[in-house]
Amino acid sequence: MGEGAIKHIGVVGCGLMGSGIAEVSARTGHDVVVVESSEDAAKAGLHRLETSLQRAEQRGKLDGPASDVLDRIQVLTDLDALADRDVVVEAIVEDEAMKTDLFRRLDAVVESPEAILASNTSSIPIMKLGVVTSRPTQVIGVHFFNPVPVLQLVELVPSLITSDDTTARARAWVQDGLGKQAIDCQDRAGFVVNALLIPFILSAIRMYESGFASAEDIDRGLVLGAAHPQGPLALADLIGLDTTKAVAESLYEEFKEPLYAAPPLLQRMVDAGLLGRKTGRGFYTYDAR
Ligand code: NAI
Repeated sequence: MGEGAIKHIGVVGCGLMGSGIAEVSARTGHDVVVVESSEDAAKAGLHRLETSLQRAEQRGKLDGPASDVLDRIQVLTDLDALADRDVVVEAIVEDEAMKTDLFRRLDAVVESPEAILASNTSSIPIMKLGVVTSRPTQVIGVHFFNPVPVLQLVELVPSLITSDDTTARARAWVQDGLGKQAIDCQDRAGFVVNALLIPFILSAIRMYESGFASAEDIDRGLVLGAAHPQGPLALADLIGLDTTKAVAESLYEEFKEPLYAAPPLLQRMVDAGLLGRKTGRGFYTYDAR
C-alpha cells in the first residue's frame, strides 16, 4: 500500500470514543463510515457527532462549517458497509466475547487484503482479537484518549504477531493522517498510561479511605505540590469510578500485584451507583445533569 493510501476509515461503535475517532478522522479529511448496533444507537451517535462538531465550529476550531465535516461521515447499521475500508477501528463496549465476535465478522467483511483491523480497547489483549481473524498480522491496538478531539495521545499496541508493516502504517495514519502523537506499548493490560495512572488513583483512594487526609487535601496536595492539573480523586470522578474499577480489575487480573487491587471503598461506591461526575456524586458532588 503506497504513501497516504489510508483514506477510507471505518469505525464500529459511535459512543463516547467511536464518535470522537470518527470526528477526528473526518476533520482531517478522511471519508468515514461508522457502524452502530441499532437504528436508535446510530441516531444517538449521529447526534453526538453533530453536537460536538457544532461546538467546535462555535469555538472557531474548524476551518469550515461543521456540515462539511459531517458530509464526510455516514452512520449506518450494516457491517457490510465497511467492505472497502483501509482501516477499521473497533470502539464497541469493553466485552471480550463481543469484541472477538466482531473481529471474526470484520475479517469476513473487510475486502482489502491489506486493510488494518484496529481496536480501541483499554484492557483486552490485542492477541485475543488477532487470533480469531485470518490476518492477525494486520490487527493492532490503536488506543485513543477521551475526549478524542482534544487529547493528543494515541498508544500503538502491536501484538506479538502484528507485522512491522502494520505498525508503521498505523503510526503514519495516526501521526500524519490524524495529527496525533503516538507512543509504542507492548500488549499488556493498561499499556503505558493506565498502568501508571490507575495505581496512582488507587493509592489516593486508599489514603482517603484510611483517614490519612481529606479528599480535598489529597487533591490540593497534588495540584499545588506536583503541578498536576487536577488531583487523583477529582480525576477518578471524571473518568468514572466504574471505569476506574474495571481497569484496575483487568490490571490485577494480568499482574496479580496488590497495588492494582481495587480498594473496598471504590467497590462500595460503584455498588452504590456513586460513579463520579456522570451520576452527580463520587468523591465530590456535582450539579445533576
Ligand atoms: P460507549 O458505551 O460510550 O460506546 C460503545 C458503543 O458501541 C455504543 O454506542 C454501543 O451501541 C456500540 N456497540 C456495542 N456493540 C456493538 C456492535 N456489535 N456493533 C456496533 N456497535 C456496537 O463506550 P466507550 O466509552 O466509547 O468505549 C468504547 C471502547 O473504547 C471500549 O473498548 C473502551 O474500553 C475504550 N476506551 C474508552 C475510553 C473512555 O474514556 N471511555 C478511553 C479509551 C478507550
